[in-house]
Amino acid sequence: MKTIFSGIQPSGTLTIGNYLGAMKHFVDLQDDSNCYFCIVDEHAITVPQDRLKLRDNIRSLAALYLASGINPEKATLFIQSEVSAHTQLGWMMQSISYIGELERMTQFKDKSSGKEGVSSSLLTYPPLMAADILLYSTDIVPVGDDQKQHLELTRNLAQRFNNKYNDIFTIPDISIPKVGARIMSLQEPTKKMSKSDENQKASIFMLDDEKKIEKKIKSAVTDSEGIVKFDKENKPGISNLMTIHASCSGESLEELEARYKNKGYGEFKQDTANAVIQTLKPIQERYYELLDSQELDEILDDGAEKASFVANKMLAKAKKAMGLGRVKKKK
Ligand code: TYM
Repeated sequence: MKTIFSGIQPSGTLTIGNYLGAMKHFVDLQDDSNCYFCIVDEHAITVPQDRLKLRDNIRSLAALYLASGINPEKATLFIQSEVSAHTQLGWMMQSISYIGELERMTQFKDKSSGKEGVSSSLLTYPPLMAADILLYSTDIVPVGDDQKQHLELTRNLAQRFNNKYNDIFTIPDISIPKVGARIMSLQEPTKKMSKSDENQKASIFMLDDEKKIEKKIKSAVTDSEGIVKFDKENKPGISNLMTIHASCSGESLEELEARYKNKGYGEFKQDTANAVIQTLKPIQERYYELLDSQELDEILDDGAEKASFVANKMLAKAKKAMGLGRVKKKK
């Protein structure tokens, strides 16, 4: 049985990009794999956070994981900061990472450029991500397209550790969905849709109500051609809406092209909005039931315990391999 690990940052309300690129696929994996899904709150503090909002976002993300179909009987759902092995192994992975390779990470460059007071943890974020994955002997990491570079570095760090110390880490593979791996901004379709975009019209959030979803999709930037055709280069706006529509309805891009031949963008946008609403509505209903429940706390307690058990064993192996701590003398 394969082991799967993935994480999402509780750094704001999730977008449909997070859902279609990552979360949606987690649900399909849990039936026949050993799955760990993590709320990576220690990653979120690499940029400034309001402490009360962060707390709310952590709980909210846990409820969203479950509402979208993660079954705690099948998968382990937990909060990163409740399993201390993550930061411990994260530190050890930092010690085998080079500053140069961390500075080359696009996410670091994007998030730090032009900013003052950039935290050092923003630079050392990828070794912590490597630790998240390596602690569980992960075979496959399902993520969106933007995490490719971090995954490549994780593989390099794992190999470097195995060669230098002891062959203890599994080298993980990345899994990226064929459709939906990179959902773009509705307002600037050449830019990735992001939780932290300041333009509220640019992103559909998983908790947006029907009216908001409709309004945002209707005001999404397209082109003046009036032809529903998938062409990322020349028609990024329409192609992005087609991807969203296809990922939500399960139809293929070709089917959509055929169905909307000789029809305007108005009808296509309305149907896209409907497909998104149909996808999110049941998730939202379940979300509000779970959010303040004790059940949610019990699931997270249980998840932290299960994850700690596995993670601590790997941490002990890594410490031994690196020569940390001591060997007790026999009496
Ligand atoms: P985060 O929190 O930015 O995003 C969570 C997941 O959503 C995917 N995603 C998207 N997919 C398609 N279109 C988009 N516009 C879009 N935006 C985000 C991301 O690719 C990701 O799969 N570094 C990670 C969190 C992390 C992690 C890990 C992931 C920490 N440790 C270990 C996997 C394994 C991040 O910031 O994701």
